Amino acid sequence: MKVYDHRVRLVMAWIFNFPALLCLSLLSAVLISCTSTNHSPLTLVSPPQIIGAKFIGNKACSECHDKINSKFHGSPHGRFYRGDEIRWASLAGCESCHGPGSKHAQSGLAIDIVNPKTEPQACLKCHVTTHSEFTLPHHHRVLEGRMTCVDCHEPHGQSIHQISGGLGMQKRDAVCVRCHKEQGASHVFQHEAMREGCVTCHNPHGSVNRGMLVQRDANLCLRCHSQIQNGVDRVYIGKMDHTGLLRSGTCWSSGCHSSVHGSNFSPRLLY
Ligand code: HEC
Ligand code: HEC
Ligand code: HEC
Ligand code: HEC
Ligand code: HEC
Ligand code: HEC
Ligand code: HEC
Repeated sequence: MKVYDHRVRLVMAWIFNFPALLCLSLLSAVLISCTSTNHSPLTLVSPPQIIGAKFIGNKACSECHDKINSKFHGSPHGRFYRGDEIRWASLAGCESCHGPGSKHAQSGLAIDIVNPKTEPQACLKCHVTTHSEFTLPHHHRVLEGRMTCVDCHEPHGQSIHQISGGLGMQKRDAVCVRCHKEQGASHVFQHEAMREGCVTCHNPHGSVNRGMLVQRDANLCLRCHSQIQNGVDRVYIGKMDHTGLLRSGTCWSSGCHSSVHGSNFSPRLLY
C-alpha cells in the first residue's frame, strides 16, 4: 500500500514538476561532473518526489535524527553537502535520498518520507551505471525486491561498504560471506586469489556472464596465471604446459579446477 502510494506520488510529481526537475537535473549534473573523480561519470540526478513537500535541509532532520546526522558528515555522500543553504539539500543532503522532508518533519510519519531500502530507485536515479548492472542476465535480485542496496552498503556511515568483521579476508568480502558461507569458509588448500577479494572475479551487482563473473573464459584466471615461454606459442601455467587443455573448456567447468574458492582435498583445486 505504502509503496503504491509513493509510486502514484512519483508519477504525479513528474507530471506537475517537470520544469523544476529539469533545472535540478542540469544543476546536479554540473555538480556531479565537478565532484566525481575516478568512477565512471554519473549522468543525471533528481531526488525522489513527495507531493506537497518542500526541502528543508539537514539541520531540520538533525532535530529528531541527531545520531544519523552526525555520522553522515564523514560518509561518502555527506562529503558533498556544502552547508545549510537549501540548494544543497536536494543535491547532496539527507533529502537527496529521502525526498523533500517538510511534511515528514511535521507529521513524524514514515509514509511522508522515502526509504531507499524499500525503494532502490532513490539510489538508482543517481547511479545510472549501477542500475544497468542490475538488469544484466546474472544479477543479485535487488530490482525484484529480494535484496536491497543496504544488504551490502551502509548509507550514512564513514564506510559505505557494510563490514561485519571477517578474519583475514578483505573487509568488503565479509558482507558476501554472511550469505555465501561456503565460498568464505577456510580450506586446507586456500586459493590465494581469494585474498584479493570476491570482486576480482565477480561483479557484485550483475554481469552478462554466468556466476556474475567479470570474464567468462580462461582469461579470468590467466590475468594472474599465464606464462608464455621463450616466444614459443605455448601457454604454461605454473610448471605445466596447458596449451591443449585451454581448448577443452574453462579452467573450472572442464573438471580441472572445480574448487576455485579453495579445496580441502586437492592442492590443485581439482575438487
Ligand atoms: C519532528 C521529528 C522529526 C523530524 C524533524 C524528522 N523526522 Fe524522520 N522520523 C521521525 C519519526 C518519529 C520517525 C519514525 C516513524 C515511524 O516509524 O513511523 C521517523 C522516521 C524516518 C525515516 C524512516 C522511515 C521508514 O520508512 O521507516 C526516515 C527515512 C526519516 N525519518 C528521514 C528523515 C529526514 C530525511 C528528515 C529531514 C528532512 C527527517 N526524517 C526529519 C521524526 C522526525
Ligand atoms: C545515500 C542515500 C542516503 C542519504 C544521503 C541519507 N540516507 Fe537515511 N537512509 C538511507 C537508506 C538506504 C536507509 C535504510 C537503511 C536501513 O534500513 O538500514 C536510510 C534510513 C534512514 C532512517 C531510518 C532508519 C534508521 O537507521 O533509523 C532515518 C531516520 C534516516 N535514514 C535519516 C537520514 C538523515 C537524517 C540523513 C541526513 C543526515 C540521511 N538519512 C541521509 C539512505 C540515505
Ligand atoms: C544525489 C545523488 C546520489 C544519490 C541519491 C545516491 N548517491 Fe551514491 N554517490 C553519489 C556521488 C556523487 C558519489 C561519489 C562518486 C565519486 O566519488 O565519484 C556516490 C558514491 C557512492 C558509492 C561509492 C562510494 C565509494 O566507495 O567510492 C556507493 C557504494 C554509493 N554511492 C551507493 C549509494 C546508495 C546505496 C544509494 C541509495 C541509498 C546512493 N548511493 C544514492 C551520488 C548519489
Ligand atoms: C551483493 C552486494 C551489493 C549490493 C546488493 C549492492 N552493491 Fe553496490 N557494490 C558492492 C561492492 C562489493 C562494490 C565494490 C565494487 C568494487 O570495488 O569493484 C560496490 C560498488 C558500488 C558503487 C561504486 C561504483 C562501482 O560500481 O564500483 C556504487 C555507486 C554502488 N555499489 C551502488 C549500489 C546501489 C545503488 C545498490 C542498490 C541498487 C547496490 N550498490 C547494491 C556490493 C553491492
Ligand atoms: C543478503 C544476502 C546476500 C549477500 C550479502 C550477497 N549475496 Fe550473492 N547471492 C545471494 C542470493 C540469494 C543469490 C542467488 C541469486 C538469485 O537470486 O537467483 C546470490 C548469488 C550470487 C552469485 C551467483 C550468481 C549466479 O548467477 O549463479 C554470486 C557469484 C554471488 N552471489 C556473489 C556475491 C558477492 C561477491 C557478494 C558480496 C559483494 C554477495 N554475493 C553478497 C545473496 C547474497
Ligand atoms: C579466482 C576467482 C574467484 C574468486 C576470487 C571468487 N570466485 Fe566465486 N566463482 C568463481 C568461479 C569461476 C565460479 C563458477 C561460476 C560458474 O558456475 O560458471 C564461481 C562461483 C561462485 C558462486 C556460485 C555458486 C558456485 O559455487 O558455483 C558464488 C555464490 C560465489 N562464486 C561467491 C563468491 C564469493 C562470496 C567470493 C569471495 C569470498 C568469491 N566467489 C570469490 C571464481 C571466483
Ligand atoms: C588475483 C590473481 C588470481 C586469479 C584471478 C586466479 N588465481 Fe589462482 N592463484 C593465485 C595465486 C597467487 C596462487 C598461489 C601461487 C601459485 O601457485 O601461482 C594461485 C594458485 C592457484 C592454483 C594452485 C596451483 C598449485 O599448483 O599450487 C590453482 C589450481 C589455481 N590458482 C587456479 C586458478 C583458476 C582456475 C583461476 C580462475 C578461475 C584462478 N586460479 C584465478 C592467484 C590468482
